[in-house]
Amino acid sequence: MCGIIGIVGTSSVQDRLIESLKRLEYRGYDSAGIAGFGPDGIERRRAAGKLRNLEEVLAGDPLTASVGIGHTRWATHGPPTVGNAHPHQAGRVTLVHNGIIENFAELKAELKAEGRVFSTDTDTEVVAQLLDRELASKAPLEAFKATLDQVRGAFALVVMIEGETNLLLGAREGPPLIVGYGDGEMFLGSDALAVGPFTNRVAYLEDGDYVAIDHNGARVFEKSGRPVDRPVQVVPQSPALMEKGNYRHFMEKEIHDQPEGCQRTIAAYVDALGGLTAVPGGVDFAALNRIQIVGCGTAYLAGLIGKYLIEPLADLPVDVEVASEFRYRQPALRPDCLVVAISQSGETADTLAALRYCQARGMKSAAVVNAVGSTMAREVDVVWPIHCGPEIGVASTKAFTAQVSVLTAIAVAAARARGRIDEAEERRLVAVLMEAPRLIAESINLEEAVKSIALEVSRARDVLFLGRGPMYPLALEGALKLKEISYIHAEGYAAGELKHGPIALVDEHTPIVILAPFDSYFEKSASNMSEVMARGGQVVFITDPEGERHAPAGARVVVTAPRCDPLIAPLVMAAPIQLLAYYVAVQKGADVDQPRNLAKSVTVE
Ligand code: F6R
Repeated sequence: MCGIIGIVGTSSVQDRLIESLKRLEYRGYDSAGIAGFGPDGIERRRAAGKLRNLEEVLAGDPLTASVGIGHTRWATHGPPTVGNAHPHQAGRVTLVHNGIIENFAELKAELKAEGRVFSTDTDTEVVAQLLDRELASKAPLEAFKATLDQVRGAFALVVMIEGETNLLLGAREGPPLIVGYGDGEMFLGSDALAVGPFTNRVAYLEDGDYVAIDHNGARVFEKSGRPVDRPVQVVPQSPALMEKGNYRHFMEKEIHDQPEGCQRTIAAYVDALGGLTAVPGGVDFAALNRIQIVGCGTAYLAGLIGKYLIEPLADLPVDVEVASEFRYRQPALRPDCLVVAISQSGETADTLAALRYCQARGMKSAAVVNAVGSTMAREVDVVWPIHCGPEIGVASTKAFTAQVSVLTAIAVAAARARGRIDEAEERRLVAVLMEAPRLIAESINLEEAVKSIALEVSRARDVLFLGRGPMYPLALEGALKLKEISYIHAEGYAAGELKHGPIALVDEHTPIVILAPFDSYFEKSASNMSEVMARGGQVVFITDPEGERHAPAGARVVVTAPRCDPLIAPLVMAAPIQLLAYYVAVQKGADVDQPRNLAKSVTVE
């Protein structure tokens, strides 16, 4: 979603605004702009499309300013044109916004009736117009608060006011906004990555907060207007984390980061020396009657894999639901149920709302997150971090396997706590889990085999992914990955559902990816494979050496992942489907790291 940066600097900010916006590119965007206090007042430069277009504009018409704001826009209201690109202006006000102003239509009508003229299709412009109106009779901070009191919705805002050349105002209601503390310089940003090159000292605004920054520091206020302190934290980050290294895309790098990301994550959930689980947070799994997992997209699918692992091993019921449905359908909840939010960003609006819904009903909460400074991490009782490093590619890969690693450790820990396995079995399963990073690395080595299928799959109009047991959610993930970065229509199905409808789609033009390691489901999956082949379907069979030996003859392509214990099969089988999506997208020349229409951090519902 939209990225925001604001700098109250002591030297030119143009290049720093652009540097920061480049760090925010991963969130997804379709236009960009910056503004600053120039010698003759506020100046702004904007461009549709990628940041390089804005850089071209700046090359011909640079911005001279040491205080300024920048924005990457992910269009919600109005197409991604220069005119709709932020910053937006009205009278003395220039501002950038991430989120949605829900009551913009009624505010716009009111402002128009007063004779105010609008020049964009955006919801954002009403905030600029409102603030300009309030400034006619109030000082900047007072006018800002009066404006915030009138708008409804989800927003992070950063504002410049003509004549107030040492001041930026910011506000947060929903999407995150952080305050960065530099040496004689101050920053506002969508996340700590945005200000990473300039400072690692940040404070996280809470919902409802607004802030004024100038060269002397920051003044933060609660919604009521009461001054409040938000603690300054030192966030660990290195600029090197943002580099692609020798890889062409962040997604490719992040697929290859997985053995290390999972290894670091698993190390935080087991006691390697003692050989037992060591899940942080002190949750008493024996006392739980149910776990409710909520998440969106890939994070939801990681949760679904968690259900397949936790229920049989720990005999603990696990419900998993997409957060956008859960939050509105008035689910029946009990306080002896633990809600577990899964979210890479820790900011996804629907997941956050689902989490808060459960908390309001007395449930204890946990979050499996990558961003440990995120809103979810700060609001839950127990944080279960993943340790895979920042994920930049819009398509989630290494966060997914790290999330599954955490859930696998939890499954084993819960099984032991609930007396379903003894210590010897716990030791065996922990040893299996600790083997996963090495086997994931072997699985990634299948790159060449997967690449050789990519051309054929890239020509398909539709692709089906089938799996049983934990391979079913992985089939869903394979389909999601392929469609989001290659724009090929793909569907995942439980293989047993094939005959109940999807088999009608099978013909010689539709590749069918069947995920089937040699496990207790194998024979049934092999039968499904025969049914597909009998109808001319082109099967891509992803299995292991034993499965390859027992496979019905005739699969077009067999990708043979390493043999492993069923506990870690979802981790080991993930890389082939990620690589398939990646190479198909590369084959099609698609924008792998920033697929069209997608945003990395979905902070509006
Ligand atoms: C798909 C993908 C998305 C996210 C979803 C949730 O590759 O990345 O489906 O998984 O938007 O995001 P988080 O995990 O940040 O809550």
